[in-house]
Parts: sequence; C-alpha cells; structure tokens
Amino acid sequence: MGSIRVLWLLLPLAAAGFAQADDEAMIDLAWDSGCFNCHDLDKTLRGPAWRDVAKRYHDADEAVFERLVAKVRDGGRGNWGDEAMSANRRVPEEDIRTLVDWILRLEPSDP
Ligand code: HEC
Repeated sequence: MGSIRVLWLLLPLAAAGFAQADDEAMIDLAWDSGCFNCHDLDKTLRGPAWRDVAKRYHDADEAVFERLVAKVRDGGRGNWGDEAMSANRRVPEEDIRTLVDWILRLEPSDP
C-alpha cells in the first residue's frame, strides 16, 4: 500500500480541517479497490473528480444511491463524457456501497 501517496492525499484534507480517521480508512479502501487508477478527489483523471461527483449528487435519494452502486459494480459511461468506467466486480459490493456513501458525503467542489 502506498502510504506516501495516502499521506500526500491527506495533507490538503488536514489543511482544510477535516482529516478524519474515516477519510483515511476510505482512502485506503479506494486504493485497495483500484478506484484511484482512474479517480482523484480533486482532479478529473480518466474518471470525474470525486468532489465533482459529490457536488452533482448532493441531494441523492436512495434510488440514485442504488443506481450509482450498480454503475460502479457493472461499469458504464455517458454521465460525465465518453470515457467508460469498466466493471469493478472483483470489489465486494459492501465495499462499493461504503465507498459510494463516503464519496457522496465528501465536501463538494466549488460551484
Ligand atoms: C477504469 C477506470 C475506472 C475505475 C477503476 C473506477 N472508475 Fe469510477 N468512473 C470512471 C469513469 C470513466 C467514470 C465516468 C462514467 C460516466 O461518464 O458515466 C466514472 C464514474 C464514477 C462515478 C459516478 C457515476 C455516475 O454515473 O455519475 C462514481 C461514483 C465512481 N466512478 C466511483 C468509483 C469507485 C468507487 C471505484 C472503485 C471501486 C471506481 N469508480 C473505479 C472510471 C473508473
């Protein structure tokens, strides 16, 4: 596990004053699940920045949450551009639910 990379990611969080044990555990889980091959909290890589995701779905209800979990599990495209997210079926569904829940609670990107 790249603890240096985790530290690097957590520094801005700490500066912003919400470095929580929860965030650290979730960032570890996201690395272990391969999400950060395509995502970053703040930058658009192959996939959208997770703070942009938090902004778009800030008022997500249960149905939207379930759709996002299924999307991460099965993959798909079209909501953010032409890049596709490949299926993440090796990631346990429980972990996907935990990650999506955390992503939606991230401090959203600026308007
Ligand atoms: C192979 C690259 C890749 C990986 C690995 C990946 N994603 Fe994605 N992700 C994308 C792309 C590309 C999109 C945009 C898809 C679209 O436009 O609908 C996306 C979109 C998303 C969205 C928003 C979906 C929507 O419909 O708005 C969420 C939430 C998300 N990813 C979470 C995750 C999580 C959690 C993981 C790890 C389990 C993960 N991603 C792994 C590339 C990836």
